[in-house]
Amino acid sequence: MAYAHITGWGMAVPEKILTNDDLSKMVDTNDEWIRSRTGIAERRIAGEGESSATLAVEASLRALEVANLKAADIDLVIVSSSSPEHIFPATASLVQDQIGAINAGAFDLSAACTGFIFATNMAAQSIRSGAIKNALVIGAETLSRFVDWTDRNTCILFGDGAGAFVLQANDEPGGVLSAVMHSDGSGGDLLSLPAGGSKLPTSEATIRNGLHFIQMDGKSVFRFATRVMARATKEALEKAGLEIEDVDLIVPHQANTRIIEAAARGLKLPMEKFVVNLDRYGNTSTASIPIATVEAFESGRINPGDKIVFVGFGGGLTWGAFTAEWSGPLPSERKVLHGWHLFLARIRSVLLRIVRVIEGLIWGRFGR
Ligand code: ACO
Repeated sequence: MAYAHITGWGMAVPEKILTNDDLSKMVDTNDEWIRSRTGIAERRIAGEGESSATLAVEASLRALEVANLKAADIDLVIVSSSSPEHIFPATASLVQDQIGAINAGAFDLSAACTGFIFATNMAAQSIRSGAIKNALVIGAETLSRFVDWTDRNTCILFGDGAGAFVLQANDEPGGVLSAVMHSDGSGGDLLSLPAGGSKLPTSEATIRNGLHFIQMDGKSVFRFATRVMARATKEALEKAGLEIEDVDLIVPHQANTRIIEAAARGLKLPMEKFVVNLDRYGNTSTASIPIATVEAFESGRINPGDKIVFVGFGGGLTWGAFTAEWSGPLPSERKVLHGWHLFLARIRSVLLRIVRVIEGLIWGRFGR
């Protein structure tokens, strides 16, 4: 039986910072209100040329570097996103091409802010079943492109960014230990982006009515979130055969400090056990858990052998958690030359496009 170890991690956020004071010049709000109700002080906003795929590529390359793994050795790429590049093709396919994961299957997963939990569980299960050896799981968002910047109820909350994990098979026990996944579609309307899909295709009316922007019933989502965070954490721990006392760290979805505090009360744990960085990034949806993990690792809060719970909730409604024993990169003899592999991947991508054009010309002339 193989275990699915987390062997690489990386994050990417845009450079542009939007502070609460900046927002107070755009809508009727103020720094004090936003800080006291959410805990957010500033967030990152994607600039021109940046998108969910570019941030995902950056985070992935960093994760591969930590894992010391060639992109060509990846079997599966999952991008979790509620702000993908397009409805199709999948953002995961674009990332697969850009990083040179030439032997990987790639698909997107949509489960709002819980997406990274679900995606990691899917990748871990594929590894544990023996079907694959190496997976890349990415949470990537540019929700700033779907926010109504005149709606103070939502525009203060969200930020852009991406985070990635590399998961690898290994015989040593550890890695992802257990996971729980939940959904309740009866609450789908509490947090949604109504238009642009098959029910409400883009039209003049959908644009006029602002239906391409995030719509949220904040109070109901808040109540739901405070109910499920502690519950999902306990379920995942029980499934792993762990007690709450065994937990070294909890990495929760970064939506609102008050929601995390409610989870801490529900679990009877001090806030020091929780990673909180939403003051600097806001709610980056499905990217928030891997981004918080990378920062926790870099500040020395995560060490090999630590038992960690990752827990999230979001639109759908969806919620879930997974537990993991932190291991770090697998031992390897040779250092992968990432720059060289990336260069080859980019050349390959251009060549494939050229070949397709030539093929089209030949087919047009002699084909049929
Ligand atoms: N600045 C100033 N005042 C504001 C603002 C603002 N930005 N936004 C709302 N208000 C006003 C409201 O109009 C209201 O005024 P009223 O009493 O005169 O009507 C008052 O402040 C209180 O508003 P509430 O909505 O009751 O504020 P609340 O304490 O519930 O906080 C918040 C709102 C922060 C949105 C909270 O409900 C929340 O965090 N909910 C969860 C949202 C969430 O996590 N969403 C993401 C889920 S994850 C995913 O899938 C993407």
